[in-house]
Amino acid sequence: MKIPTLLAALLTIWISVAEAGLEMDLLNIDGLNTFKTKYLNNPGAASSAIAAIRRNAQTALANPNPYSVINSSVVPPDKDMHQFYSWAPYWWPNCKGIKNVKDEQTDCPYEQKDGQYVPDIGKISDPKDASKLTTDVTTMALAYALNGDENLATKTAHLLDTWFLNNNTFMKPELNFGQVIRGKGRFTGRPEGILDLRSFVYIPPVVALLEKSSVGTSLTNGLKAWFNDYSTWLLTSDLGKGEMAANNNHGSFFVAQTATYLHFADRDDDARNLISSFVSGIYQGQINKDGEQPLEAARTRPFHYQCFNLVALVYIARLSDQLNGTNVWEAKTAQGATIKTAIDYLVPITQGILTDMKNGKSVKEPPDTLTTPLYAARDHYGDPDGQYTTLLNKLLTITSGPSEFWTVWNPQALSNLNATSNSTDDDSSGFDGYDGSGDGWDPYGNTTTNEYNSVGNSVRLYNGLWAVVMVVVALLI
Ligand SMILES: *[C@@H]1O[C@H](CO)[C@@H](O)[C@H](O)[C@H]1NC(C)=O
Ligand SMILES: *[C@@H]1O[C@H](CO)[C@@H](O)[C@H](O)[C@H]1NC(C)=O
Ligand SMILES: *[C@@H]1O[C@H](CO)[C@@H](O)[C@H](O)[C@H]1NC(C)=O
Ligand SMILES: *[C@@H]1O[C@H](CO)[C@@H](O)[C@H](O)[C@H]1NC(C)=O
Ligand SMILES: *[C@@H]1O[C@H](CO)[C@@H](O)[C@H](O)[C@H]1NC(C)=O
Ligand SMILES: *[C@@H]1O[C@H](CO)[C@@H](O)[C@H](O)[C@H]1NC(C)=O
Repeated sequence: MKIPTLLAALLTIWISVAEAGLEMDLLNIDGLNTFKTKYLNNPGAASSAIAAIRRNAQTALANPNPYSVINSSVVPPDKDMHQFYSWAPYWWPNCKGIKNVKDEQTDCPYEQKDGQYVPDIGKISDPKDASKLTTDVTTMALAYALNGDENLATKTAHLLDTWFLNNNTFMKPELNFGQVIRGKGRFTGRPEGILDLRSFVYIPPVVALLEKSSVGTSLTNGLKAWFNDYSTWLLTSDLGKGEMAANNNHGSFFVAQTATYLHFADRDDDARNLISSFVSGIYQGQINKDGEQPLEAARTRPFHYQCFNLVALVYIARLSDQLNGTNVWEAKTAQGATIKTAIDYLVPITQGILTDMKNGKSVKEPPDTLTTPLYAARDHYGDPDGQYTTLLNKLLTITSGPSEFWTVWNPQALSNLNATSNSTDDDSSGFDGYDGSGDGWDPYGNTTTNEYNSVGNSVRLYNGLWAVVMVVVALLI
């Protein structure tokens, strides 16, 4: 075996594990129904996604402990255990010159070290539990839709009831303590914390999938009321208004999330208005004439941030289609660009990263963040010269497990793609909160200080073992 081949293999495995996770995508129930008709009895290209869903659903079903904010490992600043609580991941204590430090969290000021996770970040459990909750209920609801096993529906309903509704265990429909900055005299929530809970966009479609089950109506009504209240909080609180005013990916994800919840709560006019204000507002400054997204390109990982903002933009475009609202796909920014301009700008960059990987070069930013925006763009704009399809085929070979789930509600993607993943690794089966925004939550990481390498110890252990195996194999050859 040649050394470059060995390096490429290692890197491919590293990247695919690092990025495996469920990213935000519009879970389209019509698409899922088409998928069932077409692939359930004849899986072909869908076999690895179906297998991953079944496997992960069984694991979720076997877990006896429902998640709840009242189980939090730390008490929120207002002592109300029904509050969701998370910490600002990049803010560190600076105890220099401070005498008699008993507790650095309350005795020392905190300061920002962008991109570096504070060592104790893994000690706060709500963000991890929210991420696991969403992954578990989404996985089980998809498996239920595929096989009709009522046990899966009942368990999904139980998890949702425990997190959102049960009188003893519910989370309040607000986010006053998201990404709290700790430190003497502080402990205040930040608008950025709203991004932490974006995985909840999967809850409305999950509820829709359960509607035909024996647990349907009362759960649906309860959750609609919860998300109605949460939407009101998002639109009217100071923190919500702060996030809405953010002009980069934070503002985009705010709109994607809030419009989803408004639609779920039967407030379609509010959802459409929010999207049209976004398009005539902050979207105008998000894409340059040549397709570069200047606000994301200015960040520490420009490629990743640009893909990440596109995840939100295509989500909003597809939701707006469902709502018969603004045509976001064709909406032009101040410089005359569209979502397509931004995608086309990133296609050759993605190709370049894939080529570097193939040649065994180390890459700073994983390329597959572009996968779902690229698929959605191809679906909408078409692909006359086949370049999107070629790139998607390459990207699909480096994804696995939950990161393939989106193919199940986007069956048109499979109909003219021929690549399938070889990997059955589900190590990173949580919602991918490692979001590249620089402010989001990495549910796995704890003490890493390298922003890219923020996927946590189990993944690093896994990769370490792989490296040993591969090196032994290379020595034997
Ligand atoms: C949370 O607490 C409840 C009640 O004490 C318990 O039943 C459940 O197993 C706990 N969940 C987790 C994930 O620990
Ligand atoms: C972080 O990982 C290390 C092992 O690499 C472990 O010893 C430590 O307890 C972890 N910290 C948290 C807060 O989970
Ligand atoms: C819910 O819990 C509160 C106390 O936390 C209690 O006062 C109230 O009666 C409970 N409601 C129901 C319906 O059990
Ligand atoms: C969008 O328009 C279609 C076709 O007229 C209609 O069936 C659908 O109910 C509309 N959706 C919404 C959310 O208004
Ligand atoms: C996948 O399709 C492309 C054309 O779209 C073709 O060049 C390639 O050989 C196909 N690969 C496989 C494994 O069938
Ligand atoms: C996946 O399997 C195919 C066919 O078995 C093989 O050609 C390809 O190199 C494999 N890809 C990886 C990343 O191992």
